[in-house]
Amino acid sequence: MEREELKKLAGEKAVEHIEDGMVVGLGTGSTVEYTLRKLGELVRDGLKIKGIPTSVHTKKIAQEEKIPLTTLEENPVIDVTIDGADEVDSDINLIKGGGGALVREKIIAFNSKKVIIVIDDSKVVKCLGIDFPLPVEVVKFGWTSTKKTLEKLDCNIELRQVMGNEPFITDNSNYILDCEFERILEPEQLEIDINNIPGVVENGLFIDLVNEVIVGGKQGILTLDKESVV
Ligand code: A5P
Repeated sequence: MEREELKKLAGEKAVEHIEDGMVVGLGTGSTVEYTLRKLGELVRDGLKIKGIPTSVHTKKIAQEEKIPLTTLEENPVIDVTIDGADEVDSDINLIKGGGGALVREKIIAFNSKKVIIVIDDSKVVKCLGIDFPLPVEVVKFGWTSTKKTLEKLDCNIELRQVMGNEPFITDNSNYILDCEFERILEPEQLEIDINNIPGVVENGLFIDLVNEVIVGGKQGILTLDKESVV
């Protein structure tokens, strides 16, 4: 099966966690887009939910799909959030932020009773940071100084850019620094160390926030949760 098919398999499976009346956190990325499209079908068939999008891009998809939207101010407790990830380790901790939406994604995940992650099997790693640089959102003011301080944590850093070598700008009007570590052996401590640096808004490590990971693989769907990991 092609990778796209594996993403679809996982993305569509996740709608089984959604019930009538729920407030649903709507993640960002190409895998969770399959969840959003499927949810759109279910809503048109009568499912009653309210969604809170994690990005401007996801809000646009939800509006296309006629999924009713709300805000964290109106609904501070989210029943379930479905989102993608860039890497998932054996403790079901994550690196997120490949799409630059990590700040809103982390706020939404933190305020959710249940967080479900949808990925294809290429995202499962033994140790975080092996394949994917860690995205860190920083304010524009003083960003070169913030970068220098981050480099002391032993990583190589690139300012994320879009075509034409312009800096990528997040939905919160900030920059993203992609931090390449050889490997991240102590993600809990690294998350604290990074967020202690002035100028850092948030980093893409999601520690102990996830209840279940739905993995699309060649053999079908595999589910990882706290009980299944050792
Ligand atoms: C968005 O900022 C990210 O956290 C995405 O959820 C993550 O990059 C996964 O995206 P894909 O499903 O497109 O790989």
